Amino acid sequence: MAQPTQAAPLPTPSLEGLTMPRIGIIVGSTASNSINRKVANVLPTLVNDDVEFTFLDIADLPLYNYELDGNWPEVATEFKNSVEAVDGVIIVTPEYSRSIPGALKNALDWASRPWGQNSFTRKPVAIMGASIGSTGTAMAQQHLRNILGHFDSPTLGQPETFFHFSADAFGADGSLQDEAQLAVLRNFAEAAVAHIESHAHSAAAV
Ligand SMILES: Cc1cc2nc3c(=O)[nH]c(=O)nc-3n(C[C@H](O)[C@H](O)[C@H](O)COP(=O)(O)O)c2cc1C
Repeated sequence: MAQPTQAAPLPTPSLEGLTMPRIGIIVGSTASNSINRKVANVLPTLVNDDVEFTFLDIADLPLYNYELDGNWPEVATEFKNSVEAVDGVIIVTPEYSRSIPGALKNALDWASRPWGQNSFTRKPVAIMGASIGSTGTAMAQQHLRNILGHFDSPTLGQPETFFHFSADAFGADGSLQDEAQLAVLRNFAEAAVAHIESHAHSAAAV
């Protein structure tokens, strides 16, 4: 009689070499008064774990053109290096004309090049967006998922976060006062950190 085969034990991720996770935050809007930036600013305050957050600025990037490959402007090299330097990225984006803003697409184009050196490949990403309208940022986020799928960036599935922005909910110091809205953002931030950490653990284990 055939003996039942023993399932091979799953490899235990080695935590050796893991340091404090570094998470980059990209805001898809370049507006100085961006509501998405106001929301993004709150995220780091909601995470209990030791996490190093850095905002990755996209406002000064010129338009990407492949003829610049080999002779990139410094600001583009710095942006690409800053994506490389983090364990994962949170993207907080508005919806412009039912898609992501051109500035965000441009930043993703820079990070994805030169060909074969996409800085988002296997980089875990979590996305959310804020709007004042009733349709939220659902269409923009779906377009963003298409791009990140093409990049082979593991992207957080849930919670989908279509944040309804209300200026009244924020204090003069930028803090969010509304408990229900804080809970939505905390839920997203904790899931984003866990998602990025789990991929950092897998990377450390290989
Ligand atoms: C060019 C443009 C297109 C927009 N298209 C949409 C849209 O498709 N859906 C939506 O919910 N809001 C849309 N809006 C409104 C934005 O949600 C609103 O301006 C919001 O403040 C943008 O976020 P930000 O302040 O972080 O840039 C659009 C705004 C602009 C400037």
